[in-house]
Amino acid sequence: MIVGEEGIHIKDLYYVMMKNQCGNVKKCKTLIKHQKVFVNGQCIVKHDYSIKDNDEIIVDGKRINAHPFVYYMFYKPKGCISASYDKNDLCVMDYIERKDCFCVGRLDKDTTGFLLITNDSFLSKRLLLPQYHIDKKYLVEVDKVLTHDLIDKFEKGIVIDKNVVCQSAILQIIDERYCYITISEGKYHQVKKMFLSCGYVVINLKRVSFAGIELDPFLKEGEYRELNDCELRILEKRILMNQ
Ligand code: URA
Repeated sequence: MIVGEEGIHIKDLYYVMMKNQCGNVKKCKTLIKHQKVFVNGQCIVKHDYSIKDNDEIIVDGKRINAHPFVYYMFYKPKGCISASYDKNDLCVMDYIERKDCFCVGRLDKDTTGFLLITNDSFLSKRLLLPQYHIDKKYLVEVDKVLTHDLIDKFEKGIVIDKNVVCQSAILQIIDERYCYITISEGKYHQVKKMFLSCGYVVINLKRVSFAGIELDPFLKEGEYRELNDCELRILEKRILMNQ
């Protein structure tokens, strides 16, 4: 859907139009070509014209939103549920002002760290597809001393749930009980199960990066901020690599 000669950019005019329900790629590009689209009073005929947040965009006589989609980095605290609503516990959407958003994937209730929040279901779906191999990096604290043979085991593929072989994972030992693990799948309780099958209990789990974007060290638990342009480009590239 979002393939172009140079690929998509989240701020391309036709992509912004698509997100405003102006039609599919073909329809939006045709509207642009047929001079039906004006940005700040000027007729635009380039479909990859880059839109800025304050631009006034008129499509076929109607104003559309130049900033229809948001992408937030949320620092999920412990005890918070990765959902829009929960009758007992605080959930992610209790922290987010815009109510049209949702989380891309889930973290366990006791896991902290980076959760991507957006209202862009197209991007979200792709980021969650297993064949897109989106990297997730976690800081892990375990219950006993980590041994170096684990690095090889994780690389070869740990078996969980009796017979499910996980894809290769990168283990970086920091010290006796702390390590980083990078996985590119998102199976239920995956990290905890991988360690458990090697005889370790995960005491603390924190997602420190998602799709190559690092959790902002200035964010506090429960806070969120918009992804910056550089981070958005990283996401776009991850999507494009898999087209
Ligand atoms: N793996 C887990 O076990 N839990 C999480 O929350 C994320 C990855």
